[in-house]
Formats: sequence, structure tokens, C-alpha cells
Amino acid sequence: MKYGICTLEDFSFYGKTVLCRVDINSPVDRVQNQLKDITRIEGCIPTIQELADKGSKVVLLAHQGGDLEYQNYVSTEIHRPVLTQLLKKREVTFIDDVCGPAARAKIGALANGEILLLDNVRYLAEELTLFEMKLKLSSQEQANTLIVRKLAPLADLYVCDAFAAIHRSQPSLVGFEEVLPSAMGRLFETEYSALSRVMREPEHPCLFILGGTKIQDAFLMMSSVLDAGIADGVLTTGLVGNIFLWAKGIDIGQPSRDFIATNQLAEYVERGKEVLRKHESRVWLPVDLSYVEEGRRESKVSELPLQRLFVDIGHQTVKKYLEKIGQAKTIFMNGPAGVFEKSDSEYGTQSLWVAVAHSPAYSVIGGGDSIAAAKKYQVKSEFSYVCTGGGAMIRFLGGEPLPVIEALQKAGRRFLANNQGSG
Ligand code: 3PG
Repeated sequence: MKYGICTLEDFSFYGKTVLCRVDINSPVDRVQNQLKDITRIEGCIPTIQELADKGSKVVLLAHQGGDLEYQNYVSTEIHRPVLTQLLKKREVTFIDDVCGPAARAKIGALANGEILLLDNVRYLAEELTLFEMKLKLSSQEQANTLIVRKLAPLADLYVCDAFAAIHRSQPSLVGFEEVLPSAMGRLFETEYSALSRVMREPEHPCLFILGGTKIQDAFLMMSSVLDAGIADGVLTTGLVGNIFLWAKGIDIGQPSRDFIATNQLAEYVERGKEVLRKHESRVWLPVDLSYVEEGRRESKVSELPLQRLFVDIGHQTVKKYLEKIGQAKTIFMNGPAGVFEKSDSEYGTQSLWVAVAHSPAYSVIGGGDSIAAAKKYQVKSEFSYVCTGGGAMIRFLGGEPLPVIEALQKAGRRFLANNQGSG
């Protein structure tokens, strides 16, 4: 057991039917009907391989897209060949059913070591995020949902490896723990340990480099790590930096203010003032910004050309931030420093990503854009840890209650109580 949750060490798997919930939710090319990125599938391979190699009958449950990500809402059939290709000597079969008679018959016919991938669990209304938000099911009700009632009686164990979905309270993620012995998978355990290292026992100085356009995420994490004394410094970049400059009373010009306002982010200027009031000495702001006018140009924040939109941090800011990075022992980085997809505005992101990747500090990145930048600059494998989760990671670091962790811990307490009872 670890973190109050059973691990794969706590159970024997030979001949057992295991429901294994993975998060292989990936960007999809709808024209080619192919996955655009397989990072998450690679992540859950060790758990699936181990379960199959130990002789269990593995039933994979997964979501793909959904009501919040409708453009990616497709069948999990396209994940099957990728899984087969990544697994050693194992063929994954697929059925276009989640918990109906066809899926149940297929599960019943599995032999030891075989792996079956069920269709997208979000084809069931109970698994949709709007359903979750609206109905807020109790754990009793989660255990009484269709998917749990139909599949749990066919299984011996439930394994959750879907760390990237720990913030969701959906039946396939929190319902089976109510009725089956449950454990976390290997990826789940690794992600939990890597983020705990940043969150619970960071080696100091510990830096958070926060940029990008997901302002709500950045503020959630920033307030919590500053209040808890985890972060010795927060280096702001990207839109986060621009919002802080505005909060500090620096004129960032009408186009940048309009961009913030039209994206409904103006409230964060007030939140930024509050953060600065409490933690000014630990929050670092850009000293120069870049804009595009017949190519890349830069200006000190005190002399900004106010008719321009600022799309990157400048060389002086990068220089100042690299000094901080050089002294850090732990670095967490989320969100690019500028519009890194374009060559005129990628300098900040490229410089920081390469510096953090090559620094001896324990470095963690996560989230779609941050991983895309790491791939673009070919430094993904240089980070100490690349988290597969976006929203899940932010909420973990923001100290929010996480339904899947709570459900697994509840199952862990039951496991301990049963074992003490029999011992
Ligand atoms: C993610 O992509 O963050 C996870 O797979 C969860 O997906 P969701 O936000 O659609 O629930």
C-alpha cells in the first residue's frame, strides 16, 4: 500500500478478471481517423503488460473525448492497434459495446493473459462530465450506475491507472471501488509520487514557472503553492505575466487589455493584485516583452509601444529567469512563455524549456501545450518527469480534493479492515 491506496503488489492476479480503467484520451485527426499523439497510451502500457503477464483477463475501460471535448469524441477502436503495437507479444481485441450483452459475453469468454478493450465509456450518459456536474452522485449512487451493476459481477478486481482523470467523479472512475477490491496501476503510482515530490517534499529553492493561457489553472496552483510555502519563487510568463504586469499598474496597452477582457479574464487582474499584496517578493514579473512588427521586436515594460499585442517575453526577462533556474533544486513548469508555434514569438519558450530540461534540478512539466513544446525543442526525455495529466495535475498541485484518490483510499481502508479481520 502507498498513500493509503492498494498497489499491484497487494493482490494476486493469476486467473482473475481485472477491470482496468486507463486514460488514453488523445487528440484525434478526424479526417484520417487516427490519433495525433500516443503519449498517454505509452504511459499505461506497463500496467496492462504486467496484468496480462501475470495471467489475468484484462478488460480495459477508457474514455475518448466527451461533452467537453466533442471534436475528439470517437470510438476507442482507433486506440486498439496502438495498444497492440506497444505491448510485447499481446494482441488487444476490441468490442463496440461498453456493458451490454455483447461486451459481457466477450468478457466471460476471455482466457488468462488476454486483453479486451471496451468501447468509449462516455457513450454512456452516466459517464459524461455535464451529467457529473449536474447530478453529483453519492458513492452509493455511483455503485448503482449501469456500468458498475453490469460489469462488477463479472470481475474480481478493479485497477485504476487513469491518473489524468483523478479529478472526475464518474462511475467508471469512482464506482467500482465501492464494490470490488481496488488498486492503483503503475502509471498512477508514478504520477502520484512525482507530483508528491514537488508538493510535499520539494528540495529548495523550488520554482514554479507559470505561463500559457489557462489562467484559472495557473492561479489555482500559484495561490496554493505560495500560501503553503512550497514555492520559493513563481516566474510568470505568457498571458499570466501580462496579467500580473497589469495588476502591478504597468500599462500593457489596449490590444493586450482587450485580449484579456474578451477572454473573460479581467477578474484575474484583481486576483493578481491580491497575490502581489501577499507574496510580492516571491512573484517575478517580465522586465521586457516582445511584439511583432515586420519581425520580432522587444521593449522594456516601462517603454512598451502601447498599440501592440505582446506575444512573448524578451531577452532580458529570459536572462533574469535563467539565473533563477540555475539556482533551483526543484522546478515545476506549466504553460508556454509565448506563442511558441510561431518563430517570431518562440524565443522565451524555447530558452526556458531547454534550460529547465538541462538543469540538474528535479524538473516536472505537464499539460498538452507544455508537452508539445518539449517535443518541438526535442527535450521531452530530459525532464525528470513529464506528467500525462493536465487538469488532474493542476488540481493535485492546487491541493483540491480528488474524487478518484478518495475512492481508492476508501477501498484501501476496506482492504485493511478485511485483512486485519481475517488475520
Ligand atoms: C484529460 O484529458 O484531462 C482527461 O482525460 C480528462 O478528460 P476530461 O477533461 O474530458 O474529463
